[in-house]
Amino acid sequence: MTTLNLEPALRVMSAKQIRSIVGVEDTPQIALWAGAVSSGKTIASLLAFFIQVAAAPDHGLIVIVGRTLQTIERNIIEPLESSHLFGWLGTLIKHTPGSTTAVILGRTVHLIGANDVRAEGRIRGSTIALAYVDEATLIPQSFWMMLLSRLRVRGARLLATTNPDGPGHWLRKDFILKAGEVGARHWHFTLDDNPSLTRDYVDRLKAQYVGLWHRRFIKGEWCLAQGAVYDMWDSDRHVVEKIPPIVRWVAAGADYGTVNPFHAGLLGLGQDGRLYLTHEWRYDSKRELRSLTDAEYSVRFRGWLNGVDIGGGTRGVQPDYVVIDPSAASFRVQLKDHGLNSVLGKNEVVPGIRTVASLLATDLLKISADCPEIINEFPGYSWDDKKAEKGDDEPVKAEDHGLDMIRYIVHTTQSTWRNHLRERVLVAA
Ligand SMILES: Nc1ncnc2c1ncn2[C@@H]1O[C@H](COP(=O)(O)OP(=O)(O)OP(=O)(O)O)[C@@H](O)[C@H]1O
Ligand SMILES: [Mg+2]
Repeated sequence: MTTLNLEPALRVMSAKQIRSIVGVEDTPQIALWAGAVSSGKTIASLLAFFIQVAAAPDHGLIVIVGRTLQTIERNIIEPLESSHLFGWLGTLIKHTPGSTTAVILGRTVHLIGANDVRAEGRIRGSTIALAYVDEATLIPQSFWMMLLSRLRVRGARLLATTNPDGPGHWLRKDFILKAGEVGARHWHFTLDDNPSLTRDYVDRLKAQYVGLWHRRFIKGEWCLAQGAVYDMWDSDRHVVEKIPPIVRWVAAGADYGTVNPFHAGLLGLGQDGRLYLTHEWRYDSKRELRSLTDAEYSVRFRGWLNGVDIGGGTRGVQPDYVVIDPSAASFRVQLKDHGLNSVLGKNEVVPGIRTVASLLATDLLKISADCPEIINEFPGYSWDDKKAEKGDDEPVKAEDHGLDMIRYIVHTTQSTWRNHLRERVLVAA
């Protein structure tokens, strides 16, 4: 077995990191690092994991579990290999990208994506000596319970890191709050526990994680998704009368509705390195007392896009993307029949909201005063209390048509604009 000299690594760790690494030795079975982003949880827990690998019972598998093999590679293997501080730890890991195993300190470690049903089969009947779980709240509870039931050898342990979720999350209720009963120990990390963060970086994190994410990812609280979704919204700040020259028309898009309103919008990248929602178009069948067919919508949508007044006597734009409500398959087919190709909007609601929220909070997304309908929707958009009690983060589905539209067009087109903004923004993956 390779002997580990952790002296140099421990010397640069914060007090909390050291306490947690040492504390694993006195942990009956489950060691949990929870708290803020970038707070040093992964680094501390991985050092602890290395120590455990060196000491793990011979009998039984060693596994690293993440949402997918890719997230394991991205969150764990790659940072270890590339970190200048901990690079030497990386040399103790042998892994070929895409392979479902790695060799750590000479022992085979199985890399398992919890969302991959076949991967689950690899551990179902086995005995596990040591498990490491990345982003534990995102792992299905059934998978976690199965893992625990496999820790059948004496001295077997499970180490896990996570960011906080809602207060009713099973990981908090059944493990953190009942730590003593279930043989668990828990360390709460905050940004102060990572000694390597500069003031500048911390300020940037604080500016970009706003609303719900500020409470969970910066303060590290297990809090409900409650109150205003866009609590950073401020019409004085976000609504603008005068749009700077647009250097690129990023996308047009629409939230589709027949009984509900159809809401279209146009997004441009301004010369000042900000995104602008410059125009909107809404058709409300209830207001008009008539609903439109897909063909009629297609005609009007294209007519609107070809007629928008972009100043200087010019009308009409051809944006890089046309992003359509992911549930409006028939409308997309209709647009295509009329010669307009579109892409399907990404429908990950919470990450999409987080992207929009980060942009608003950092003044990188502004709304033209010519878009009164969406401006009306921002202040009232709220998290659904009832859903939150059940552990689901979801906004109330009402008066959200413009907001869905902006979420689709902004979140789906990230790769087009993220390198062109005046400052870097952390967006949800
Ligand atoms: N003691 C330390 N000395 C130097 N750099 C550190 C230290 N602890 C952590 N870091 C660095 O800080 C960054 C964030 O740390 P880490 O990945 O452990 O945070 P995390 O709490 O796991 O964050 P997330 O919740 O985003 O996964 C990494 O680049 C890591 O290498
Ligand atoms: Mg981490």
